[in-house]
Amino acid sequence: MSSPLLELVDIPQRGDARGHLSIAEYGKVLPFVVRRAYWIHGTNHGVSRGFHAHRNLRQMFICLRGGVTLAVSDGERSETFPMSAFGKAVVIGPGLWRVMSDFSADCILMVLADREYDEADYIRNFDEFVIAKCHG
Ligand code: TYD
Repeated sequence: MSSPLLELVDIPQRGDARGHLSIAEYGKVLPFVVRRAYWIHGTNHGVSRGFHAHRNLRQMFICLRGGVTLAVSDGERSETFPMSAFGKAVVIGPGLWRVMSDFSADCILMVLADREYDEADYIRNFDEFVIAKCHG
């Protein structure tokens, strides 16, 4: 069986009488050292984002509030995962076309990445993505 495109990860929580604390630590939950974090919020109704792949970047998606659907494709197979706050985090590697949709109005989606922002790492054209996959 082929390996999944999306790696689902449980984020450990430490809860006590005061509330909760969630932890994403390198080597335990995070498979890479974080060099960049960003978060998507205030997404307008009906908006989908993404529509690109990365050449090298690895990312972990963590939904901090609300919900969003993450879909990825390697050009042949696709997988979809509905994310919700404090549900599983998702790790994705390079070479995956991704689309985020069905954002709830209150959604906060945090993304941890193993590299700094580099527009040259993006493939924003789907035909170019398919061709890049075909040529390994
Ligand atoms: P983009 O990655 O295209 O957003 P999405 O895939 O969610 O639709 O980024 C949107 C804009 O923000 C684009 O102009 C690039 C810029 N940007 C940065 O400058 N730094 C970053 O770390 C990220 C993720 C985006």
